[in-house]
Amino acid sequence: MNQPRRLGTPLSPSALKVMLLGAGELGKEVIISLQRLGVEVIAVDRYANAPGHQVAHRAHVIDMTDGAALTALIEREQPHLVVPEIEAIATPALLALEKAGKATVIPTARAAWLTMNREGIRRLAAEELGLPTSPYRFAASLDELRGACAEIGFPCVIKPVMSSSGKGQSKINGADEITAAWDYAAAGGRVDAGRVIVEGFIDFDYEITQLTVRALDGNGAPVTHFCEPIGHLQVHGDYVESWQPHPMPPLALQRAREIARTVTDNLGGLGVFGVELFVKGDMVWFSEVSPRPHDTGMVTMASQRQSEFELHAKAILGLPVDTSLASPAASTVIYGQLEQDAIAFEGVAAALALPGVDIRLFGKPQSFARRRMGVALATAADIDRARAIARQAAQAVKPVPA
Ligand SMILES: Nc1ncnc2c1ncn2[C@@H]1O[C@H](COP(=O)(O)OP(=O)(O)O)[C@@H](O)[C@H]1O
Ligand SMILES: [Mg+2]
Repeated sequence: MNQPRRLGTPLSPSALKVMLLGAGELGKEVIISLQRLGVEVIAVDRYANAPGHQVAHRAHVIDMTDGAALTALIEREQPHLVVPEIEAIATPALLALEKAGKATVIPTARAAWLTMNREGIRRLAAEELGLPTSPYRFAASLDELRGACAEIGFPCVIKPVMSSSGKGQSKINGADEITAAWDYAAAGGRVDAGRVIVEGFIDFDYEITQLTVRALDGNGAPVTHFCEPIGHLQVHGDYVESWQPHPMPPLALQRAREIARTVTDNLGGLGVFGVELFVKGDMVWFSEVSPRPHDTGMVTMASQRQSEFELHAKAILGLPVDTSLASPAASTVIYGQLEQDAIAFEGVAAALALPGVDIRLFGKPQSFARRRMGVALATAADIDRARAIARQAAQAVKPVPA
């Protein structure tokens, strides 16, 4: 039987220590939730003054894809829990540390390792667990890609096996676009692994994130909790808007949750998972899963009694969770628009004057045109109204040069 973690006093011998690997906007919110429970938090990212660094007890800047550097830092800090917030981590080092009993990785080192590579998680979901997915092939050269596209047919989607937020991803309609998609994937992949997945294009009605939480029950056994489905809009593979609850026919919802349960049972451990699914009528396809809070789940900061970040913090500590909805709500991303350091924001007061609106500005030191710098949140009587107000609030916030 598993026990809830004993909470202590930060910066003392009784401290419960948690290390976040990745300290962006999602990590920042997890850290704030942990701070509220008196957890000592160590935030790690690849650049200084990342959002989560600013709210942690200690901040480190390392290249997290460097296994030796990552191992050295974990051995030095000796956190009770290691919480990956991003995919680009030397997960083999986490596997080795976990095996040696030197780290407990959330949810497990295997889950972090499998999900950082589209091939690992896709083969597990489709070939081992038998879940419905888009048809797919892998290719390691332009020639192989031509063959793979011929088998899958058009339109299809080509993605580097290691990438996130739509980077290096293209939807193509014919063989004449294959070379450009190959070059784009090679440039956009996290590591130039020279390997891509080709997926048949699913003409879905809508896509959802099924947030799924594995938390301990009173007897120390892991139990699965489901949040209400989150609908979202992706532009070039990056989320721009999300809302909760997304209405679904009962059979589709049941299938979505069966898929989510199957994949999260297999990945194991404790915490929040973001299961991405495509839906058409009553048909549901598994797309991918994050073994951590999901960007589209930022809406839960407004819509749920406990946000996905609070759920993650509580679940990983072995504490009970409450996934209930408080109100329909929506989130709209606030982009940097400017290519500049240390920008300022105007119009926040106007945004906050709208009914049911809240704003998060992440405090990222550097802005790019398409960098996510904040999010506007809105609660309303229904999701259509919430979406309209959140969009209006996001537009009211204007990034300006400092
Ligand atoms: N096979 C597909 N059919 C239709 N749309 C897809 C397919 N694959 C990806 N997409 C669209 O692109 C988005 C990003 O793809 P995803 O595989 O989730 O990549 P990432 O890991 O970058 O989030 C999806 O949310 C969906 O909108
Ligand atoms: Mg995705």
